[in-house]
Amino acid sequence: CGIVGYIGNQNAQDIVVNGLEKLEYRGYDSSGIATISNGKLELSKFKGRLSVLKEHLKKQPHTGFIGIGHTRWATHGEPSDVNSHPHINESESVAVIHNGIIENYRDLKAELIKEGYKFKSQTDTEVIVHLIDHYLEDSKDIMKAVNLAVKRLRGAYALGIIYKNEPDKIIAVRNESPLVVGIGKGENFFASDIPAILSYTKEVYYIDNEEMVVLTKDSITIYNLEGEKIEKEKSVITWDMESATKAGYPHFMLKEINEQPQAISDTLLRRIDKNNNLILDDIRLDEDEIQKIKDIYIVACGTAYNAGLIGKYIIENLANLRVRVDIASEFRYNKQFINENTLVILVSQSGETADTLAAQKLAKTKGCRILSITNVVGSSVARNSDDVFYTLAGPEIAVASTKAYTTMLVAFYMIGVELAKLKQEISIEDYHNIVEKLKKLPQKVKETLSVEKKCIEIAEKIKNSKSAFYIGRGLDDSVGKEGALKLKEISYIYTESFAAGELKHGTIALIEKDTPVIAVVTQDKLLDKTMSNIQEVKARGAYTIIITDKHIEDVKNYADDVIQIPEVYDMFSSILAVIPAQFIAYYTSIKKGNDVDKPRNLAKSVTVE
Ligand code: G6P
Repeated sequence: CGIVGYIGNQNAQDIVVNGLEKLEYRGYDSSGIATISNGKLELSKFKGRLSVLKEHLKKQPHTGFIGIGHTRWATHGEPSDVNSHPHINESESVAVIHNGIIENYRDLKAELIKEGYKFKSQTDTEVIVHLIDHYLEDSKDIMKAVNLAVKRLRGAYALGIIYKNEPDKIIAVRNESPLVVGIGKGENFFASDIPAILSYTKEVYYIDNEEMVVLTKDSITIYNLEGEKIEKEKSVITWDMESATKAGYPHFMLKEINEQPQAISDTLLRRIDKNNNLILDDIRLDEDEIQKIKDIYIVACGTAYNAGLIGKYIIENLANLRVRVDIASEFRYNKQFINENTLVILVSQSGETADTLAAQKLAKTKGCRILSITNVVGSSVARNSDDVFYTLAGPEIAVASTKAYTTMLVAFYMIGVELAKLKQEISIEDYHNIVEKLKKLPQKVKETLSVEKKCIEIAEKIKNSKSAFYIGRGLDDSVGKEGALKLKEISYIYTESFAAGELKHGTIALIEKDTPVIAVVTQDKLLDKTMSNIQEVKARGAYTIIITDKHIEDVKNYADDVIQIPEVYDMFSSILAVIPAQFIAYYTSIKKGNDVDKPRNLAKSVTVE
C-alpha cells in the first residue's frame, strides 16, 4: 500500500491525491482520503483505481489544509469501499491510514469487541483506530494515545493519523514499513515513498523503526516510543521521478528480485506461531476432510505453472498424496479424473488469468474442493475458492515474475508440511523441525542475492548465444523450467530446460561449441548422476555453468563457471536456486538492450483464453 500526508497552507486534497498518483505502483485496488476542515473530519474512499476517487472528488471536493491518503493493496479483507482506508472511529474524530500487516489483530479485535467497539471492515487496520480511540478516552491527547496504541501492535506498519480536536498536527509512526518525511516551508509532508512528495521538496528525513513523528505546518518533531526526542540528519534527494518510483532501481524487475527476502518473510513468518505451528487461517481443510482427498490437481499458467511443478514434488514427498500438474489452457480438454474427492489447487499471481478461471469453473461443476494460491486479495480466483492461501508479495509490476514465484513456493512448502501433519505422514517432532527450517529461508534468500555480480559476468558471456539450456533432475529440473522461461521471455534467447538424464535421448544433438548449459545441482541423492550429464555436454563443447549449494570436489573439471548459493534443506533449495536464474535473465536482457519490464508480445495479466 501507499500512504501520504500533508499539512500546510495549500489545499490538502490536491497534494494528497497528487501524491497517491505517484504511489499507485504500490497498490491500486482502492483508495481514500481524509481531511479536516471547519472542525469536521471529511472522508472519501472507494474500491477501484484512484480514478474512481478522483471522479468523486471532482463532484464533492474536500476543503482543508491537513489531510492523509491511501492507495491499497489488500492483505486482509477483499477490496471494497468499507475495507478501503482511511479508517475512522465511531465518533468520527480520528482517521488512520496504514501500510503493513498487524499480526496480533485478532487478539486485539476480540479485546476491543468485548469493550463494545463495533467493527465495520475485515481489515487488520481497523483495530488501530479503535485502540487509539480507547486510549484517547483517558488521555485526550492524540500523541499519547497513539503512543500507547502502537505499543500494543505486533507486526509491520507505517501509519498516518489525524484527529479532529487537534487539527494543527499529523502523526506518523513506523515499524518495518517504509516512511519518509518531506521538509517544506510553512508546510510538511510524509509518505511511504519519495515519489509522492518529490514535486514539493527534495529534503527529507528517513524515519526508522519504532519512531513517531509529529508534523505541524512549521515543525517536524521525531520521538522514540519512550517519548524522547530524536535528532536526525536531513537527506537530500538527487533522484528524478522515474527512478524514484522504482526506489532507485533501474527496473521494476530488479527491484522485485531484491524485494524477495521481504516478500518471503511477509508470506511466511506471520503464519508461524511461537511454538513453530503453521497458521493457515484461510485454509479450512481439517483432518477428516483431508482423509477424503484421494488426489490433487495443480492447475496454472506460465510461472505459476512452474511453481506448481515444485508444489507437486513437495506435496507428493511430504504428504504422500498423488499430484498431477496441468497447464490451465489444457486442463479442460484433457481427460480429467476429478470428483468430490479431488483437491484442485489453482495458482495465479493476479487471480484473473482467463485460462485459470475457466479451469476453476469446470472443477467447480465436478464438485472438487478448490484451494487457490494467489497474490491478489479478493481476486476472481480467490472469491470462487473454498480455501485460499494469499502470497504477500505486494504488487508485482514487471511482466517477468520473480517475487510472485518464490512466494508461491513458500505457499507450497507450507501447504505440503501442513497436509503431511494432517495426514499424519510426519511426526509432530519432524513437523516442528521442518517449520524451523522454513523460518531460515528469508535470511538465506537475502544471502543469495550476493550472486548478482557473478551473474553479470555470465550474462556478458551468453548475450550473443542463439540458444541456451537448463538441465537438472527432480526439483532441479523444475527450477530449470522457470529459469528457462525467465531467460527466453526477456532476453529472447531460445532457451529450453531438460531433465538432465533425458539429454542423451535427443537434445544433446543441439549442443555446439559454446552453447550455454546451466545445470542446477541441489539434490544430494541426484548429484553424481547430474554431474555425469554435465560432463557429457562439456565434452561436446558446451559452456557449462553450475548453480549449486553443495561443495562439489573438483567442480572446475565440470563447470566453466560456478554459482555457489547457501545450503538449505534439500526440499527447499529451489527458492534459492531460482535467484541466479532471475539475475542471469535480467542482465542478459539489459546487455541486449531489451525493454526488461515490458518484453515484446507479452502481458502481465492475460484475460483472454
Ligand atoms: C502471463 C504472465 C506470466 C504469468 C502468467 C500467469 O503470461 O506474463 O508471467 O506467469 O500470465 O499469470 P497469473 O497471474 O495467473 O499467475
